[in-house]
Amino acid sequence: MTATELEKRVAAHRWYHTIDLGNGIVTRGIDDTPVRLGRVQLPSSLRGKTVLDIGAWDGFFSFESERRGAARVVAADYYSWHGSGWGAKAGFQLAREALGSKVEDVDIDVMDIAPERLGTFDIVLFLGVLYHLRHPLLAIEKIAAVTRELLILETVVDLVGLGRPAMAFYPDRELNADPTNWWGPNQEAVIGMLKYAGFEEVQVVTPTPGALYRGARAVWHRVKGRNRLLPAFRQDRAVFHARKPADAVPLRV
Ligand SMILES: C[S@@+](CC[C@H](N)C(=O)[O-])C[C@H]1O[C@@H](n2cnc3c(N)ncnc32)[C@H](O)[C@@H]1O
Repeated sequence: MTATELEKRVAAHRWYHTIDLGNGIVTRGIDDTPVRLGRVQLPSSLRGKTVLDIGAWDGFFSFESERRGAARVVAADYYSWHGSGWGAKAGFQLAREALGSKVEDVDIDVMDIAPERLGTFDIVLFLGVLYHLRHPLLAIEKIAAVTRELLILETVVDLVGLGRPAMAFYPDRELNADPTNWWGPNQEAVIGMLKYAGFEEVQVVTPTPGALYRGARAVWHRVKGRNRLLPAFRQDRAVFHARKPADAVPLRV
Protein backbone atom coordinates (compact mmCIF):
# COMPACT_ATOMS: atom_id res chain seq x y z
CA MET A 1 0.00 0.00 0.00
CA THR A 2 1.46 3.39 -0.95
CA ALA A 3 1.51 6.30 1.53
CA THR A 4 -1.14 8.09 -0.59
CA GLU A 5 -3.42 5.04 -0.54
CA LEU A 6 -2.94 4.71 3.21
CA GLU A 7 -3.69 8.39 3.73
CA LYS A 8 -6.96 8.01 1.79
CA ARG A 9 -8.04 4.93 3.73
CA VAL A 10 -7.13 6.56 7.04
CA ALA A 11 -9.14 9.68 6.15
CA ALA A 12 -12.21 7.57 5.35
CA HIS A 13 -12.40 6.09 8.87
CA ARG A 14 -13.74 7.64 12.10
CA TRP A 15 -10.99 7.04 14.65
CA TYR A 16 -11.14 6.81 18.42
CA HIS A 17 -7.38 6.53 18.93
CA THR A 18 -4.66 8.87 17.75
CA ILE A 19 -2.10 6.50 16.22
CA ASP A 20 1.13 7.42 14.47
CA LEU A 21 1.24 5.10 11.45
CA GLY A 22 4.57 6.44 10.17
CA ASN A 23 5.40 8.53 7.08
CA GLY A 24 3.73 11.51 8.77
CA ILE A 25 0.33 9.80 8.81
CA VAL A 26 -1.44 10.12 12.16
CA THR A 27 -5.04 9.01 12.69
CA ARG A 28 -7.40 11.80 13.72
CA GLY A 29 -8.71 10.20 16.91
CA ILE A 30 -11.15 11.95 19.21
CA ASP A 31 -9.01 10.60 22.06
CA ASP A 32 -5.67 12.21 22.88
CA THR A 33 -4.14 8.76 23.23
CA PRO A 34 -0.42 9.68 23.48
CA VAL A 35 -1.24 11.83 26.55
CA ARG A 36 -3.18 8.93 28.08
CA LEU A 37 -0.25 6.61 27.41
CA GLY A 38 1.83 8.70 29.83
CA ARG A 39 -0.84 8.43 32.54
CA VAL A 40 -1.21 4.68 32.15
CA GLN A 41 2.52 4.10 32.88
CA LEU A 42 2.92 1.05 30.71
CA PRO A 43 6.29 -0.59 31.58
CA SER A 44 8.96 0.77 29.22
CA SER A 45 10.00 -2.79 28.29
CA LEU A 46 7.52 -5.61 27.79
CA ARG A 47 10.18 -7.84 26.32
CA GLY A 48 9.01 -11.43 26.08
CA LYS A 49 5.71 -10.74 27.88
CA THR A 50 2.24 -11.81 26.82
CA VAL A 51 -0.34 -9.01 26.84
CA LEU A 52 -4.14 -8.99 26.68
CA ASP A 53 -5.75 -5.62 25.86
CA ILE A 54 -9.44 -5.76 26.83
CA GLY A 55 -11.62 -3.19 25.04
CA ALA A 56 -8.84 -2.47 22.55
CA TRP A 57 -10.94 -0.51 20.00
CA ASP A 58 -8.52 0.93 17.38
CA GLY A 59 -5.71 -0.91 19.14
CA PHE A 60 -3.32 1.88 20.18
CA PHE A 61 -2.33 0.19 23.46
CA SER A 62 -1.99 -3.23 21.80
CA PHE A 63 0.35 -1.86 19.12
CA GLU A 64 2.30 0.08 21.76
CA SER A 65 2.72 -3.12 23.82
CA GLU A 66 4.07 -4.90 20.74
CA ARG A 67 6.41 -1.96 20.07
CA ARG A 68 7.73 -2.32 23.63
CA GLY A 69 8.78 -5.89 22.96
CA ALA A 70 5.82 -8.06 23.97
CA ALA A 71 6.15 -11.58 22.55
CA ARG A 72 2.41 -11.95 22.02
CA VAL A 73 -0.39 -9.38 22.14
CA VAL A 74 -4.11 -10.16 21.95
CA ALA A 75 -6.56 -7.31 21.35
CA ALA A 76 -10.06 -8.11 22.62
CA ASP A 77 -13.25 -6.15 21.99
CA TYR A 78 -16.71 -6.54 20.62
CA TYR A 79 -18.90 -3.46 21.09
CA SER A 80 -16.98 -0.85 19.20
CA TRP A 81 -16.02 -3.44 16.56
CA HIS A 82 -19.57 -4.66 15.84
CA GLY A 83 -21.97 -2.70 18.02
CA SER A 84 -24.60 -0.14 17.14
CA GLY A 85 -22.35 2.79 18.16
CA TRP A 86 -20.13 4.65 15.74
CA GLY A 87 -17.10 2.42 16.19
CA ALA A 88 -15.95 -0.26 13.76
CA LYS A 89 -13.21 -2.85 13.57
CA ALA A 90 -11.89 -1.43 10.29
CA GLY A 91 -9.69 1.09 12.14
CA PHE A 92 -7.95 -1.64 14.15
CA GLN A 93 -7.48 -3.74 11.02
CA LEU A 94 -6.13 -0.85 8.97
CA ALA A 95 -3.71 0.26 11.70
CA ARG A 96 -2.50 -3.34 12.11
CA GLU A 97 -1.86 -3.60 8.37
CA ALA A 98 -0.14 -0.20 8.18
CA LEU A 99 2.12 -0.99 11.14
CA GLY A 100 2.92 -4.50 9.89
CA SER A 101 1.77 -5.70 13.30
CA LYS A 102 1.23 -9.28 14.47
CA VAL A 103 -1.29 -8.32 17.19
CA GLU A 104 -4.00 -10.99 17.32
CA ASP A 105 -7.67 -10.10 17.69
CA VAL A 106 -10.50 -11.83 19.46
CA ASP A 107 -14.14 -10.78 19.46
CA ILE A 108 -15.30 -11.30 23.02
CA ASP A 109 -17.34 -9.65 25.77
CA VAL A 110 -15.30 -9.16 28.93
CA MET A 111 -17.90 -11.23 30.81
CA ASP A 112 -17.00 -14.25 28.64
CA ILE A 113 -13.27 -14.00 29.32
CA ALA A 114 -11.91 -17.16 30.97
CA PRO A 115 -8.60 -19.08 30.96
CA GLU A 116 -10.35 -21.88 29.03
CA ARG A 117 -11.21 -19.41 26.22
CA LEU A 118 -8.09 -17.23 26.06
CA GLY A 119 -5.39 -18.74 28.26
CA THR A 120 -3.55 -16.52 30.75
CA PHE A 121 -1.40 -13.43 30.19
CA ASP A 122 1.53 -11.80 32.02
CA ILE A 123 0.04 -8.33 31.59
CA VAL A 124 -3.60 -7.37 31.13
CA LEU A 125 -4.74 -3.89 30.06
CA PHE A 126 -8.24 -2.88 31.06
CA LEU A 127 -8.44 0.75 30.08
CA GLY A 128 -11.59 2.84 29.93
CA VAL A 129 -13.95 -0.14 30.15
CA LEU A 130 -14.92 -0.71 33.80
CA TYR A 131 -17.55 2.07 33.97
CA HIS A 132 -19.25 0.62 30.84
CA LEU A 133 -20.07 -2.60 32.69
CA ARG A 134 -23.20 -3.50 34.62
CA HIS A 135 -21.32 -5.96 36.83
CA PRO A 136 -17.91 -4.45 37.58
CA LEU A 137 -16.87 -6.76 40.42
CA LEU A 138 -17.69 -9.88 38.42
CA ALA A 139 -15.70 -8.46 35.48
CA ILE A 140 -12.68 -7.85 37.72
CA GLU A 141 -12.90 -11.43 39.00
CA LYS A 142 -12.98 -12.73 35.42
CA ILE A 143 -9.98 -10.58 34.49
CA ALA A 144 -8.06 -11.69 37.59
CA ALA A 145 -8.49 -15.29 36.42
CA VAL A 146 -6.51 -14.59 33.21
CA THR A 147 -3.86 -12.27 34.74
CA ARG A 148 -0.54 -13.75 35.81
CA GLU A 149 1.47 -10.69 36.93
CA LEU A 150 0.12 -7.21 36.38
CA LEU A 151 -3.27 -5.70 35.62
CA ILE A 152 -3.33 -2.06 34.49
CA LEU A 153 -6.81 -0.67 35.03
CA GLU A 154 -7.86 2.83 34.00
CA THR A 155 -11.32 4.12 34.83
CA VAL A 156 -13.60 7.01 35.63
CA VAL A 157 -13.76 7.43 39.38
CA ASP A 158 -16.61 9.18 41.17
CA LEU A 159 -17.44 10.19 44.75
CA VAL A 160 -13.84 11.39 45.09
CA GLY A 161 -13.06 12.39 48.68
CA LEU A 162 -15.85 10.34 50.29
CA GLY A 163 -13.25 8.31 52.19
CA ARG A 164 -14.98 4.93 52.08
CA PRO A 165 -15.55 2.44 49.23
CA ALA A 166 -18.61 3.41 47.16
CA MET A 167 -19.86 3.52 43.59
CA ALA A 168 -22.05 6.08 41.82
CA PHE A 169 -24.79 4.47 39.72
CA TYR A 170 -25.72 5.97 36.34
CA PRO A 171 -29.06 4.37 35.41
CA ASP A 172 -29.59 6.82 32.55
CA ARG A 173 -27.16 9.26 30.89
CA GLU A 174 -25.65 10.79 34.01
CA LEU A 175 -22.04 10.21 32.94
CA ASN A 176 -20.98 12.06 29.79
CA ALA A 177 -24.57 11.79 28.47
CA ASP A 178 -23.66 8.23 27.47
CA PRO A 179 -26.25 5.52 28.22
CA THR A 180 -23.52 2.83 28.03
CA ASN A 181 -21.98 4.09 31.29
CA TRP A 182 -23.22 2.32 34.44
CA TRP A 183 -20.94 2.70 37.47
CA GLY A 184 -18.34 5.16 38.74
CA PRO A 185 -16.48 3.56 41.66
CA ASN A 186 -14.23 5.66 43.87
CA GLN A 187 -10.55 4.73 44.32
CA GLU A 188 -11.28 2.91 47.59
CA ALA A 189 -13.89 0.73 45.84
CA VAL A 190 -11.57 -0.14 42.93
CA ILE A 191 -8.78 -1.06 45.36
CA GLY A 192 -11.23 -3.16 47.40
CA MET A 193 -12.49 -5.01 44.31
CA LEU A 194 -8.95 -5.68 43.06
CA LYS A 195 -7.82 -7.01 46.44
CA TYR A 196 -10.94 -9.16 46.75
CA ALA A 197 -10.11 -10.63 43.33
CA GLY A 198 -6.63 -11.68 44.48
CA PHE A 199 -4.35 -8.76 43.59
CA GLU A 200 -2.20 -8.39 46.69
CA GLU A 201 -0.46 -5.17 45.74
CA VAL A 202 -2.53 -2.31 44.32
CA GLN A 203 -0.99 1.04 43.49
CA VAL A 204 -2.78 4.17 42.26
CA VAL A 205 -0.25 5.60 39.79
CA THR A 206 -2.11 8.81 38.94
CA PRO A 207 -2.13 11.78 41.32
CA THR A 208 -5.37 12.41 43.22
CA PRO A 209 -6.21 16.07 42.67
CA GLY A 210 -7.01 18.13 45.78
CA ALA A 211 -10.37 19.83 46.42
CA LEU A 212 -9.15 23.24 45.23
CA TYR A 213 -8.01 21.89 41.85
CA ARG A 214 -11.19 19.82 41.43
CA GLY A 215 -13.29 22.88 42.30
CA ALA A 216 -11.56 25.04 39.69
CA ARG A 217 -11.82 22.26 37.11
CA ALA A 218 -15.52 21.77 37.90
CA VAL A 219 -16.22 25.47 37.32
CA TRP A 220 -14.32 25.25 34.00
CA HIS A 221 -16.33 22.18 32.90
CA ARG A 222 -19.57 23.93 33.91
CA VAL A 223 -18.65 27.06 31.92
CA LYS A 224 -17.80 24.88 28.89
CA GLY A 225 -21.15 23.07 29.27
CA ARG A 226 -19.40 19.69 29.68
CA ASN A 227 -20.85 18.74 33.06
CA ARG A 228 -22.85 19.97 36.03
CA LEU A 229 -20.91 21.52 38.89
CA LEU A 230 -21.29 18.90 41.66
CA PRO A 231 -20.73 15.75 39.51
CA ALA A 232 -17.70 17.42 37.91
CA PHE A 233 -16.30 18.18 41.37
CA ARG A 234 -16.65 14.53 42.40
CA GLN A 235 -15.45 12.85 39.18
CA ASP A 236 -11.96 12.11 37.93
CA ARG A 237 -10.03 9.35 36.15
CA ALA A 238 -7.45 7.12 37.77
CA VAL A 239 -4.98 4.40 36.82
CA PHE A 240 -4.31 1.38 39.04
CA HIS A 241 -1.46 -1.12 38.81
CA ALA A 242 -2.50 -4.37 40.49
CA ARG A 243 -0.02 -7.19 41.01
CA LYS A 244 -0.30 -10.82 41.94
CA PRO A 245 2.32 -12.84 43.79
CA ALA A 246 4.10 -15.39 41.59
CA ASP A 247 2.59 -18.29 43.56
CA ALA A 248 -1.01 -16.99 43.46
CA VAL A 249 -3.68 -19.66 43.22
CA PRO A 250 -5.73 -19.08 40.05
CA LEU A 251 -9.21 -17.71 40.76
CA ARG A 252 -12.14 -19.80 39.50
CA VAL A 253 -15.19 -17.71 38.55
C1 LIG B 1 -13.74 4.26 26.15
S1 LIG B 1 -13.32 2.95 25.09
C2 LIG B 1 -11.67 2.60 25.64
C3 LIG B 1 -10.80 2.05 24.52
C4 LIG B 1 -9.36 1.73 24.93
N1 LIG B 1 -9.29 0.63 25.87
C5 LIG B 1 -8.70 2.94 25.51
O1 LIG B 1 -8.53 3.03 26.73
O2 LIG B 1 -8.36 3.84 24.75
C6 LIG B 1 -14.23 1.59 25.77
C7 LIG B 1 -14.02 0.27 25.05
O3 LIG B 1 -14.59 -0.77 25.85
C8 LIG B 1 -15.26 -1.67 25.01
N2 LIG B 1 -16.28 -2.36 25.80
C9 LIG B 1 -17.41 -1.87 26.34
N3 LIG B 1 -18.11 -2.83 26.96
C10 LIG B 1 -17.39 -3.97 26.83
C11 LIG B 1 -17.58 -5.32 27.24
N4 LIG B 1 -18.64 -5.71 27.92
N5 LIG B 1 -16.63 -6.22 26.90
C12 LIG B 1 -15.53 -5.86 26.18
N6 LIG B 1 -15.30 -4.60 25.77
C13 LIG B 1 -16.22 -3.67 26.08
C14 LIG B 1 -15.84 -0.79 23.91
O4 LIG B 1 -16.16 -1.54 22.76
C15 LIG B 1 -14.71 0.20 23.69
O5 LIG B 1 -13.80 -0.27 22.74
